[in-house]
Amino acid sequence: MAILKPKIQTFEDLFLMKMQVIYDVESEILKALPKMIKKATDPDLEKALSGHLAETEIQKERVEQIFDMVGAKPKKMACAAIRGLVADAEDVIAMKPPSELLDAALIGAARSVEHFEMSKYMAAISWAEALGHADAAKLLETTLEEERSADLKLVEAAETVNERALETVIGDEDEDE
Ligand SMILES: [Fe+2]
Repeated sequence: MAILKPKIQTFEDLFLMKMQVIYDVESEILKALPKMIKKATDPDLEKALSGHLAETEIQKERVEQIFDMVGAKPKKMACAAIRGLVADAEDVIAMKPPSELLDAALIGAARSVEHFEMSKYMAAISWAEALGHADAAKLLETTLEEERSADLKLVEAAETVNERALETVIGDEDEDE
């Protein structure tokens, strides 16, 4: 008899799968952020992205701690959605818009990532709480707060970035000012 491997039989399995997806998401973001930082020209944007890169390293470690807390080995489950969001960011970079417009586009792309992460963490928190993993829920909550504040920093950076983007739209294609 063919044996299927039903990985999700319990709510605990589902939570574990969520953590495997989150582990993958944080890993993909760690790879994607340096490319975005390299392309950012606005200092506030660069700072926001760089700060979040450092945070993401710690967030990934927190996921490892959670695996440990629930007695599971750290494992990734490939998340198609984060790869899509990263591909969207790469697409706009590849179109080589003027740097002021690229900054605005990078903010949009980064905010999509932040909100995606927030949605993942919010679901994980509610499942961790339901399963009685109070310690894990607390760690997840810490990361959720960081994602929220990363998003806010992008909103702040957008104030000047959008102003500069507005000025750029009317400009000609020449390199001179
Ligand atoms: Fe994150």
